[in-house]
Amino acid sequence: MDPTSRVVYVDNDPLVLVHAQALLTSDPRGACDYIEADVRDPGTILEYASRTLDLSRPTALMLLGVMGTVFADDEAYRLVRELLGALSPGSYLVFEDGTNIVKPDAAAEAERLRDKGEVYDYRLRTPEEIARFFDGLELVEPGLVSVSRWQVESDVFGLPPEVDAFCGVARKP
Ligand SMILES: C[S@@+](CC[C@H](N)C(=O)[O-])C[C@H]1O[C@@H](n2cnc3c(N)ncnc32)[C@H](O)[C@@H]1O
Repeated sequence: MDPTSRVVYVDNDPLVLVHAQALLTSDPRGACDYIEADVRDPGTILEYASRTLDLSRPTALMLLGVMGTVFADDEAYRLVRELLGALSPGSYLVFEDGTNIVKPDAAAEAERLRDKGEVYDYRLRTPEEIARFFDGLELVEPGLVSVSRWQVESDVFGLPPEVDAFCGVARKP
């Protein structure tokens, strides 16, 4: 990572905070911070993040494997819009989340176990549902794809198989 980068991590799990305190050490030219906050509370996230980040300059918002914890579509789309709304033009959204189309039987089984309370409470979305997080933004190449296909080059074995997690990177105009 560029030593002059300024990075703020957010997670609501106190155990992650303990690891973060041990691992997130900044180079004096950059800065690193950790916020224990819920993604459902963008106001707190933005308030604390702005102590480390200059949000008047382009910033990358990375939501990786987290929005599936917000089951209601309306709420999930609103939260991302609110976080992005605070960022300047030229900022980027980097988004990745679990899907249910590559191996639908396995996804259905995971959802069945989830509904019985036996595995992590997480909502898998279709790529079309994930695409809506990018509404109003300019997706960069290759668009919204399985993570195994993001800017990957084909080799003698061809392209890697798709996996049930899709991602995209998009610029805020
Ligand atoms: C699948 S992991 C992804 C971690 C990391 N973003 C990555 O890509 O490696 C999901 C993380 O989201 C955190 N998390 C779950 N619900 C959350 C919430 N409501 N607000 C903030 N973080 C949450 C969990 O504690 C966990 O560390």
